[in-house]
Amino acid sequence: MKTEILGIDGASLDRAAELLTEGQVVAVPTETVYGLAANAFDEKAVRRIFEAKGRPADNPLIVHIADVSELERLSPEVPELAYECAERFWPGPLTMILPKADIIPSVTSGGLDTVGIRMPADKTARAVIKRCGFPLAAPSANLSGSPSPTAYRHVYEDMNGRVSAIIDGGDCSVGVESTVISFDGDKIRILRPGFVSPDDLSEVAETIVDKGVLEQLSPDAVVRSPGMKYKHYAPKADVTIIDSDRDSFISYVRKNADEATMLLVFSEADCKGLDIGFVKYGDTSEEQARRLFTALRTLDELGAEKVYARCPEKSGVGLAVYNRLLRAAGFKAVKL
Ligand code: TXA
Ligand code: MG
Repeated sequence: MKTEILGIDGASLDRAAELLTEGQVVAVPTETVYGLAANAFDEKAVRRIFEAKGRPADNPLIVHIADVSELERLSPEVPELAYECAERFWPGPLTMILPKADIIPSVTSGGLDTVGIRMPADKTARAVIKRCGFPLAAPSANLSGSPSPTAYRHVYEDMNGRVSAIIDGGDCSVGVESTVISFDGDKIRILRPGFVSPDDLSEVAETIVDKGVLEQLSPDAVVRSPGMKYKHYAPKADVTIIDSDRDSFISYVRKNADEATMLLVFSEADCKGLDIGFVKYGDTSEEQARRLFTALRTLDELGAEKVYARCPEKSGVGLAVYNRLLRAAGFKAVKL
């Protein structure tokens, strides 16, 4: 299939909406990561997303809207707490799991009777949804199993020839996927951490972080969010997280590194005195969120076979970075 490359000008967005209305798949930038979008109401179009990604059919898609008033059409029971979260965090990187309305086909929700809904902050994404007049189902625009795309180049590498068009919207400002939450009575449960942090959500209601966020679930475990049971965000290299201060990191690397080793560090200071290739992903949690997936792709491009990574903070936005890196590492972490 020939993939059209579109910009973010009005004519490009008209073309994107035209393709989407015909039931085609278009990669669209959002503030978190690029999404692989199709008409959420069109079964055939949604199947094309699963094909393009190579995604297991039981992993549900997030439905993206451009206006809060859409909630009523997509869910028969929207709790008051969901409206409070929408008021506080939308448009933005928050996905809410709600009971699904019949208008959403079950392919979109991976056979579940719930649906994840998000109103993105990115102007291009919202402009495309508005032009379409229907909500867009969109998972991250990577091939299933590789890191989510946060730059146009990543999407092109994974999706050229597999989708009808890609909108080049530059780099994503957040860099990790949205926070996914469900409602447990009057409590909020975080199923996937993101830029909207546990502390942010606690301002609205008592917030629990689901066990699956930091622990490896056994393959037969009953999971609340199917995405959590798949190996995710995986680079080709064998990644180990080293949970320690800088000095202990440096001495661990000195003892254990071999020729195939590279480092994933915050900054040059973490490699002092070491003669080993490294990739940086920044000193603050926000910067690490923005740069992590690019860093993982870069390590692959450099041919890293073994990677020792400095461990992010486990709170605030850092919890999202740590959660993604844990999955990239297949949960291998060494605490010093
Ligand atoms: O930031 C994002 O969320 C990006 C952009 C494109 O919006 N999208 C994204 O989609 O990350 P995806 O499909 O790669 O990840 C969606 C996650 C998966 O782990 C999925 O299992 C979970 O959300 N999810 C979706 N619908 C769900 C539902 N009804 N119940 C439980 N989990 C759900
Ligand atoms: Mg994904």
